[in-house]
Amino acid sequence: MTKPIYVLNGPNLNLLGTREPEIYGHETLDDIRDRLQAQADGRKLDFRQTNSEGTLVDWVQEASREASVLILNAGAYTHTSVALHDALRACTIPLIEVHLSNPAAREAFRQTNYVAPAATASIAGLGSRGYEFALDAAMKMKA
Ligand code: DQA
Repeated sequence: MTKPIYVLNGPNLNLLGTREPEIYGHETLDDIRDRLQAQADGRKLDFRQTNSEGTLVDWVQEASREASVLILNAGAYTHTSVALHDALRACTIPLIEVHLSNPAAREAFRQTNYVAPAATASIAGLGSRGYEFALDAAMKMKA
């Protein structure tokens, strides 16, 4: 049986829609999930959000066992978490990193990235469309 695609979201992404909309847009995370669900066309998606670093690490470990591809917006843990980096290095499935904004064009503290060195591909700066491109790529990868 085809394994699901995991879409994991890190801290503060539950606030999408009201959080700095000039940077992150007006769509909520539920809006994004619903659109991806429709796009998945029957393919199973496991779409989750947590504010907790440990939970994100647990979910990455789970994804490595249970998922075919991991799409990850790690939010601020992208720039701080060695634990997340280590979990991603241990993860044996393709990883597509997504950011709504383009951190490379933002503050100096966002220039450190612990996710990108473990990623198969990275998509940033395209708003919520970035998730759609990531899902499109994930669905074309070998399950
Ligand atoms: C983000 C970019 C991060 O720098 C930031 O901490 C976020 C959101 C993005 O999607 O643009 O929380 O991952």
